[in-house]
Amino acid sequence: MHLTSTLLAGAAAVATAAAADNNYLGFNSGATLADRSAKFKKDFEAEFKTAQALNGAPGKFNAVRLYTNIQAYSTDDPIEAFEAAIDTETYMLLGIWASGTDNIDKEISALNKAVKKYGSKFTDLVIGMSIGSEDLYRNSVTGTKNKAGVGADPKVILGFIDDYKKAFADNALAKVPIGHVDTWDSWTNSSNKAVIDAVDWIGVDEYPYYESGKGNSIKNAGKLFDKAYDATRGVAGSKPVWVTETGWPFSGENWDEAEPLCRERQVLLG
Ligand SMILES: *[C@@H]1O[C@H](CO)[C@@H](O)[C@H](O)[C@H]1NC(C)=O
Repeated sequence: MHLTSTLLAGAAAVATAAAADNNYLGFNSGATLADRSAKFKKDFEAEFKTAQALNGAPGKFNAVRLYTNIQAYSTDDPIEAFEAAIDTETYMLLGIWASGTDNIDKEISALNKAVKKYGSKFTDLVIGMSIGSEDLYRNSVTGTKNKAGVGADPKVILGFIDDYKKAFADNALAKVPIGHVDTWDSWTNSSNKAVIDAVDWIGVDEYPYYESGKGNSIKNAGKLFDKAYDATRGVAGSKPVWVTETGWPFSGENWDEAEPLCRERQVLLG
């Protein structure tokens, strides 16, 4: 998993589906628990129910973003999050894992099985399909410096977008808008422009915390957030920009001027 979500397990993600004139609030959810064991239906259900019942939330957190459609440690079984989402009426921004592989056949197979098994109860809740997550970031200069792991170059993502479209052209999922999720500075890198051209929406992950050298203390978080969003908007043309990950780490290492909330809180209380 990439650097940010490792440090930010449980961080809020805001998926803003402007195209549908709908704002969805939700969390990102990986396929495994912190100890790397598989999450099952009951684990996802507990997450979704907790999210929907959050006290003092600015809206209803009734959406989830997944990184893969495959149940952890299975070959190509649909992830059990699908059943939990159907049971709790949770909207889904689905993800196809696109790094470290030369094909997305198993992702396609898992999705096909889910469509066959659950039909419109499943497909009606799917608000978007992301082909890849931070693949371009992991391949970038910063990603390499941060040892973020295996990424994929724009050509690979474009190939997978084609594969996905072909596989679901005559399927209920054909109506689901296709996107790709990456960091804001991957979107503003002109070498990746072909990916912008190929998708229906742009998913941007932006963490002011990691903006070293830019005064990234928490009091500047809002300003840095807006700057990254505006920069992405600036290259997106007419395509909607969805904020797919953000947040501020609770624990972990300091990053230039940024401190995790557990230490910020000590400062505030002290
Ligand atoms: C820009 O994108 C290309 C293609 O994804 C990548 O190889 C390159 O490292 C990126 N540039 C920077 C400065 O990260």
